[in-house]
Amino acid sequence: MKKIRIYVHVPFCESKCSYCDFASFVCGEDLKQKYFAKLVQEICGCKYKDREVQSVYFGGGTPSSVDEKYIISVMKCLRHNFTFSNNAEITIECNPASESLDKLKKYRELGINRISFGVQSLNDNTLKFLNRRHTKKDAVEAIKDAQKAGFENISADLIIGVSESQEDLIDSAKQLLNLGVKHISAYMLQIEEGTPLYNAYQNNNSIVPSEDYCVGMYDRLVVFLTERGFCHYEISNFALPCYQSQHNLGYWRLDDYIGFGLSAHSFVDGVRFANSNNFNDYFEDKNITREVLTAQQKIEEKIMLGLRCQEGVSIKDLLNLGYDIMTNPNLSNFVENGIIILQKNGKTPDKITINPAYYGVSNSIIVKLLP
Ligand SMILES: C[S@@+](CC[C@H](N)C(=O)[O-])C[C@H]1O[C@@H](n2cnc3c(N)ncnc32)[C@H](O)[C@@H]1O
Ligand code: SF4
Repeated sequence: MKKIRIYVHVPFCESKCSYCDFASFVCGEDLKQKYFAKLVQEICGCKYKDREVQSVYFGGGTPSSVDEKYIISVMKCLRHNFTFSNNAEITIECNPASESLDKLKKYRELGINRISFGVQSLNDNTLKFLNRRHTKKDAVEAIKDAQKAGFENISADLIIGVSESQEDLIDSAKQLLNLGVKHISAYMLQIEEGTPLYNAYQNNNSIVPSEDYCVGMYDRLVVFLTERGFCHYEISNFALPCYQSQHNLGYWRLDDYIGFGLSAHSFVDGVRFANSNNFNDYFEDKNITREVLTAQQKIEEKIMLGLRCQEGVSIKDLLNLGYDIMTNPNLSNFVENGIIILQKNGKTPDKITINPAYYGVSNSIIVKLLP
């Protein structure tokens, strides 16, 4: 049976954070009702129901911000329409401000087995700066509630490069580890045009630390987490053994996935689809884009996504797509200088990976390895 991964977009939040430009909106109940009805209809009409589901990811926006009845309806519909693999990973993103023990127990009953909390920081001043709705205490309670509800696969998002010291960042990570969090996603703050943070930054650049200081924060976090047994399996992601996000690994390996909901993207059999990011268009199935990837695009995606991960890129896969990366002169240069690691299978070159010490400048390395 062919495999598939499923992403469900929940585009609602209780308020907007100062830095965020994701497709997420503060909306009333009527729109939510209409949206979830459409989502269920979209799932029922899906063309790929003959595939076995490897993972489901409820992302947002904030899936935990909506009444659990909506998540229940989507999960029921997915289970009714698809066959799930026995060990399917099912993740839901939660904001610590909108969780409750009761809600988390319901998620667990639905078979959701992984929670990803948007913690960002465990420093109350930083949380205020980011316009988060929760305090450090709320985030700690949320993690404990998830454990009480029976979740052990818990991830926390942190943002690097906000107005806090390197010590604050390490302190947040330390507390998360002490709480038993198994996975950390640490994102470098992106100052996105149109956000309140962007406007504030235009008026005063010093509201966030310098780039060098942020790189130092990232480097310290890498050392801190890897010394404690976390595997740095992707530029921004760290996990204890067996707790890597299977869903996200699937994206980086270019597995097939379908996205349901507003602005959701899909990638099936080499074709990319994307739903509109406008509610009315989405309700009427308008402005769905479709793009068949060329061999060149597949090669580029394989390199760009694969080199973000510790798994790296298979030389044979690239060769099958028509690109002999071993003939790229930049590759030998990078290998000689220890920037790229060439893994061999016996005497045959098998995979290439970026030396994690160079993750911070991965973009400039990747560009030089494209055909
Ligand atoms: C969809 S949100 C997570 C769930 C929930 N909405 C929340 O914020 O708690 C995904 C994550 O993206 C990260 N993120 C969003 N905008 C970002 C930005 N401009 N820079 C860096 N990280 C960002 C945050 O760490 C956030 O937790
Ligand atoms: S970071 Fe999360 S809670 Fe904040 S606006 Fe973005 S999606 Fe919503």
